[in-house]
Formats: sequence, C-alpha cells, structure tokens
Amino acid sequence: MRLPERLGKINQEVQQLSQNKWQELEQKLFLRTGNRVPVTLVRGKGAWAWDDQGKEYLDFVGGWAVNSLGHCPPVVVEALEKQAKTLIQASNQFYTIPQIELAQLLIGHSCLDRVFFCNSGAEANEGAVKLARRYGKLRLNGAYQVITTYNSFHGRTLAMTAATGQSKFQEPYIPLPDGFINVAYDNVEAVKRASTEQTCAVILEPVQGEGGVNIPDDDYLKEVQSWCREKGILFVLDEIQTGIGRTGTLFAYEQYGIEPDIMTLAKGLGSGVPIGALLAKENVSVFSPGEHGSTFGGNPLVCAAAHATLKYIIDNEIPAKVKRVGNYFIARLESLKKHFDFITEVRGRGLLIALEFDREIAENLLLACLDSGLLVNKVKPNALRFIPPLIITEKEVDKAIAILGDALEEIGNPKSQ
Ligand SMILES: Cc1ncc(COP(=O)(O)O)c(C=O)c1O
Repeated sequence: MRLPERLGKINQEVQQLSQNKWQELEQKLFLRTGNRVPVTLVRGKGAWAWDDQGKEYLDFVGGWAVNSLGHCPPVVVEALEKQAKTLIQASNQFYTIPQIELAQLLIGHSCLDRVFFCNSGAEANEGAVKLARRYGKLRLNGAYQVITTYNSFHGRTLAMTAATGQSKFQEPYIPLPDGFINVAYDNVEAVKRASTEQTCAVILEPVQGEGGVNIPDDDYLKEVQSWCREKGILFVLDEIQTGIGRTGTLFAYEQYGIEPDIMTLAKGLGSGVPIGALLAKENVSVFSPGEHGSTFGGNPLVCAAAHATLKYIIDNEIPAKVKRVGNYFIARLESLKKHFDFITEVRGRGLLIALEFDREIAENLLLACLDSGLLVNKVKPNALRFIPPLIITEKEVDKAIAILGDALEEIGNPKSQ
C-alpha cells in the first residue's frame, strides 16, 4: 500500500473510532430505556445543530418540542449568564425574584390565577392530579378518580404511566396506582360514561402529541369542559407539548373558547432549560402549606431562562409566526402527499405536525433524512413528527421539504410523474 493510501486508511480508522467512542460508551454505561439515533450532537445555533464529526443538521426535532427559540438563543444565554453569576439556587424556603417575575408573566398572559413551579412535565402533571385529589377531598365528597384518554401521554412516573392511556407503557409496571380511567379520545360520550361520584377531574391534551399528533374535533374540548362544569368536575389541560406558542397561540386552549381549571406546562417554557409549571384558577387553588413542594422547582436559574423565553415569545408575537410558518409547512407537506401515494395524511396545528404513511417506513425515512442533514422524529412506526424551533423560517422549511422529498423518493414508491 502506498503511503498516501496508508495515511488515508489510518485517518479513516481514527475517524471511525472517535465517531463511535461516545456511542460505544453510552451502550456500556446506561440503562437501556430507549434507542438513540446514531448521532452525537455537540453544538447548536438557532434551528441548526452539529455532531462530533462537524456534520451540520437542520433540526426539526427541537429537543422534543423544547427548544422553542432554537439552540442557544442569545436572550436565554444572556439571562442564564447573568443569573448564574447572581444566584443559582436558594430553595423555596425563601422568596426569589426570577420565579415571581416569571409567575407574573404566565398569570398575566393566561386565564389561570396561581402557579407552582417544578422540573418536568411529569412532575407538573403529578401536581395537577394531587391538586385535583385535594379538591376532590375538600369539595367533592372525597372524589379521587381522574379520567384520561387512550393514546395520551402524560409522563413516565408511576402515576403518570397510569394516566397515559397506552398499554405499551403500562404493561411492564402493572400494578399501577389506582384512580385513573382511560377512555377514547375525541369522544365526549366516553367521558360521560366513565364519570361517577368518584370522579374529580378529566385531563386532556388539546392535541395528543406523543400519541401521534391526534387533533380532536373542534367541539370536543368545549363539550368536555361543559360536562365538567355541569358535574362540578375539574377540567384539566396538559399543555406540556401544545403550550408556549407551539400550536399558533400562546396556549392551545385559546383556539377553542375554553378555560381550563388547571393547566400544566413544561417543554418549551424554558427553551431547553428544565422547568415545569402547574397553573390553577383561584377557586381550585386548595393546597395548604406543606401539602406539595419541590427542592429545585422554580429555582432562580431556570426561571430566569423561562422568563427570557416567554418574554421574547410574547414581545415578538412568535405564536402568530408559528401559525403562518406552520400553515406554509403543512401546505408544502400536502404537495408531497400529492406526489407520493403512500402518504396517507398530513395533520398538525402550528408547528406540531405529523406525516403518516400506509406502511412502516418512518425509521428508514428518519435515517435517510439524517444522512442528508435533517433531524426528524418518528412518532409511530408509520408516522414522522415535526416539532422544530418556533423561530424556524419558510426558507428552512423549504430546505427540510427538499431533503424529505428526496428521502421519500429513495425509501418509498413515487407516483408516476
Ligand atoms: C403532553 C405531555 N405531557 C407530559 C409529558 C411528560 O413530560 P416530561 O418528559 O418533561 O416529564 C410529555 C412529554 O412528552 C408530553 O408531551
């Protein structure tokens, strides 16, 4: 072998070694809870991310609908830098200003009156169920049951696994905590049939995100709210995925002429910094001191980041932009659907969008997109989900559509042109 060839081969081997180093270590060190895509991301800026080999990707996963302002948004970085030099953690034994300022902004822009901060979506929902049970104990003769829906997703704690109406998540952990009844989504009669004297709340996602981007009938949420009001049951919305501008309004409930008694948030609220929030109407805010709490919840660092995120989203009218770009994206996906007859449906609200196929090709499409520098999410074996940063542009959508179009051409069978 000539020297240049030898050098080339050695370089390739070194490259291969370093490429797989982190992934091999992960395989050895971690509990096997999920399968990762074979990419090690090391850097991000706006809607773009780079792996440890320097390869560039357009990011339509957005940290699972979390990076609302994209990667490392300057306003959030600045807020974090400033707060990190001032006060990071103080515990909720004390008053701290960033969480009060964030509360003001959230309460001022929603229909809810009080807030509790925590660290994740699951924890926010746990708090919602505890608040609903407390309400049931104090105001509904001890009612404690919570109605949730099939194909929902509310988190990974034991109670939220019981709330999440998907057997694949529930079966490994049976017996699950008592008091959760799963019924059909988008079916008010199913909610009515499941309601008893023991029911204290109904918890719904305005659009089921993890369940496949399932959008209910326009009247569904309003009808469930009316039923809850009639029966004195709490109407709880899990806006962990749909909130903070994702569906084209700051909160999805605004599009349906409804007002939840309790609402949960997480994901996009901190633009990548872990924070959850539980919000409630005044008459439902029945916790007494000591009945709920969190060590890290609402600490100054995360609240400064969330405040910067929320303020930017409100001041720059990002939800309206999400609506515009989301509609543009959906229209471009509809054009792909016309060309590829194995695409069965395009559905979405704002920038929470799914593309469904008549066959299980989502994994192969994801890998083909990856190869061409586009990150997407497989939400079902036969469906991709797109949850890019809210600041994505039409030009970036065009780029994603071009890559996706090529992947569809490669993986599926195009209609004759
Ligand atoms: C609607 C909804 N609720 C709750 C959760 C759980 O949030 P977390 O993973 O932060 O616990 C998710 C996560 O995907 C979600 O989409």
